[in-house]
Amino acid sequence: TEVIIVQNEHEAAQIYANCVAQLIARKPDAVLGLATGSSPLAAYGALAERVREQQLDMSQVQGFALDEYIGLPLDHPESYHSTIHRTVTEPLGLDPAKVHVPGDVLHGMALNDNGEAMAAAGPNYDQMIADAGGIDVQILGIGTDGHVGFNEPGSSLVSGTRIKTLAEQTRIDNARFFNNDVEQVPTHCITQGIGTILKARHLILLAFGDAKAEAIEETVERGVSSFCPASALQMHPHATVIVDEAAASRLR
Ligand code: F6R
Repeated sequence: TEVIIVQNEHEAAQIYANCVAQLIARKPDAVLGLATGSSPLAAYGALAERVREQQLDMSQVQGFALDEYIGLPLDHPESYHSTIHRTVTEPLGLDPAKVHVPGDVLHGMALNDNGEAMAAAGPNYDQMIADAGGIDVQILGIGTDGHVGFNEPGSSLVSGTRIKTLAEQTRIDNARFFNNDVEQVPTHCITQGIGTILKARHLILLAFGDAKAEAIEETVERGVSSFCPASALQMHPHATVIVDEAAASRLR
């Protein structure tokens, strides 16, 4: 794993944007893996700026998001479908028809509304990624417990996209987006598996701040373990971890 220590998230954002711009120059219909959360926002901002200044045309780019809640209506402002549209598709000028979020077919369904559709949604999403030629660059954040996507500690390192229960701590953490009411946070999610993520050709994980320092140490300097799902990056031939000084503070 390549580790790059930067001054701040804007420096990280430029590294990501350079990487994506070079990719699009040789492959205008590149396939990007997209994450929600705060860590990638500056990176998306850097791309959006290049699009606004007409240095970059992303209209042919395809996007696949990492994860989604189960049981929220399509237009719920906190669904990742809505979040990706607001933070990525619109500012980067992507074609909404080319941007996919797992579980798009399940929106509005409650868990177990349609068991067959629920069971098929994960494998179908992995097939859509494969049919698009695979993901070229996957951007990732990391949870303080080492989760990536909604792959919480204990997740299989060879998993495909599947439905999972949300860890109680994650529901508590995310209650801030749901009127601080844990009851309103969905109980289940659909997430790319660690195996899905490892198939992307280049992984770029971003982490900023003290709170991520322990997870980053486990990710790059401890053994590979399902108890820190992000440590699976060690098995990937092209993984780049971009951290600020605070997130790097426990590295040797
Ligand atoms: C995002 C995701 C999560 C976040 C992680 C870090 O789609 O699945 O794994 O990347 O929780 O979140 P932030 O970046 O908000 O610290």
